[in-house]
Amino acid sequence: MSHSTQTVLSTSFSHPRLLMYSLKRIFHLLFRFDRIYITINHIFLHSPGILYMNMRVVGIAGSLRIESLNKKLLRASEKILKEIDPSVEYTELDLKTIALPVYDQDIQDARMPENVLQFKSAIQNSDLVIISTPEYNHSIPGGLKNAIDWASRGDKNSFANKVVAIMGATDGMGGTIRSQEHLRVALATLNSFTIPYPEVFIRQAQNKLDEQGNFADDKGISQIRKLLERAITVTKKLQS
Ligand code: FNR
Repeated sequence: MSHSTQTVLSTSFSHPRLLMYSLKRIFHLLFRFDRIYITINHIFLHSPGILYMNMRVVGIAGSLRIESLNKKLLRASEKILKEIDPSVEYTELDLKTIALPVYDQDIQDARMPENVLQFKSAIQNSDLVIISTPEYNHSIPGGLKNAIDWASRGDKNSFANKVVAIMGATDGMGGTIRSQEHLRVALATLNSFTIPYPEVFIRQAQNKLDEQGNFADDKGISQIRKLLERAITVTKKLQS
């Protein structure tokens, strides 16, 4: 076996995604039998974290405050996500900690701030984004819109071709319907794929959620499970 072949194979084995891609290409080139190719694709799409390893998911809450109901809802979603696929690598991007400046093109033109670059690369390196947002004055909270605006600028629009699962929690009865609609419009403009259904509106969430991500709402849990299962399926299909 040549040195270059050994290098390609050892690199592939240390990167499961690359290995899967290489195997698919090898089968495709060697056999060129559609049926084999379809079967391999089928295994790839339906394997729960065995062949498709370590899906990377980031969660963003549209609220900065420590006691945010939307941060608690993200924690509940992380638990549901891990039940669906324990191999998922989940990271919360906390807008309070990241502390992005208010978008200003002068700042961008001078030099993209380091925290903006880190925020952008965290999104770009993810396979799937979950956003849980409150509604502020019938629209997207300014902090979240600011983060999306930064993510859309620079060398690359970080949300391009990203699958995004949207949900929202409120202490009232409105359920974040309007802010989610506005969020979908902004993300569609950025060419991302928002999962249209089920829509997850968690009303009076202060009575249902705690710090640890415990969520006393069977209907809400079931809706989030469906939303995340669809988001994972769409992500895998887009990447196959
Ligand atoms: C709100 N809230 C609110 N709720 C709603 O249903 N419709 C709205 O238009 C608004 N507008 C609004 C504006 C501003 C500036 C604030 C601070 C709040 C209430 C909001 O939904 C509630 O405070 C949520 O609990 C905030 O989300 P977190 O921080 O708990 O995640």
